[in-house]
Amino acid sequence: MPELEQALAEVAAEMAARTDRGNVATYIPQLGKVDPRKFGIAAVTNDGRVILAGDADQPFSIQSVSKVFTLTLALGKIGDALWQRVGREPSGNPFNSIVQLEHENGIPRNPFINAGAIVISDVLLAGHQPREAIGEILRFIQFLADDDTIIIDRDVAASERATGYRNFALANYMKSFGNLHHEPELALGVYFHHCAVAMSCRQLAMAGRFLANGGRNPATGHSVVSAERARRIGALMLTCGHYDGSGDFAFRVGIPGKSGVGGGILGIVPGVASLAVWSPGLNENGNSKLGSIALEKLARMMGWSIFAP
Ligand code: DON
Repeated sequence: MPELEQALAEVAAEMAARTDRGNVATYIPQLGKVDPRKFGIAAVTNDGRVILAGDADQPFSIQSVSKVFTLTLALGKIGDALWQRVGREPSGNPFNSIVQLEHENGIPRNPFINAGAIVISDVLLAGHQPREAIGEILRFIQFLADDDTIIIDRDVAASERATGYRNFALANYMKSFGNLHHEPELALGVYFHHCAVAMSCRQLAMAGRFLANGGRNPATGHSVVSAERARRIGALMLTCGHYDGSGDFAFRVGIPGKSGVGGGILGIVPGVASLAVWSPGLNENGNSKLGSIALEKLARMMGWSIFAP
């Protein structure tokens, strides 16, 4: 087995040379401005090593990867009561699909599709003004990454709001079923802003450490969530983290992962490391094309899989 440094450098060099990089998301106009040639990858191991390659220190829009952090916060707030308002099944549909909501009484299939994450934003709004809820989410991410330079890109949030017709439709529809407790406008304000958090691969991999280490920050030993909750968040990432591409990601990569339309993916190797990869071009399911390939190659090189003995 190669050293992790060598494996990361090899994967990054191979990805830099590829020309088939997928398509950058343009439905959020601000994301369409990102250079598709970017590629970064980071691994933070439970024994404290931080290994980087490519553009691993350049911030990008984490988009739906933020849903791992908002789910964690919402579970901390209301615990298992969350599952009365959001399901735990893969949707087999695109991330912004509305079709299942009618048959399933406004209860989204899982916390990672847009509808599910909007309900979670509504949960995080309880007792708060939107700006307070947004601040709480940002501070939580900064705390997890141990980095208070992480910011929200206001231009991305504004760009998404200006073109967010589908998300408005999802929120209004769920409100009609009584599954939003606040006005759709307010829940969406929280949602658009947490999707607009900008992080580098290094920062994202740092923020994911607790999931690779049984719910504890491996550097400090402090508990973020219980070991059981960390396992369950990992299970949801594996089954739902890549939308209608979740089965394929599990098949090819074999570890829990969460993607975002900014081209980032957070990957968790339980007991070993937290990984982040970024390549802005997306595949047909809206997941980073080269990011998925890079994680597949890295996992194979290192012998990583949750199904490995
Ligand atoms: O709501 C949206 O469409 C975006 N803020 C997030 C979607 C996303 O990242 C889907 N992931 N691949």
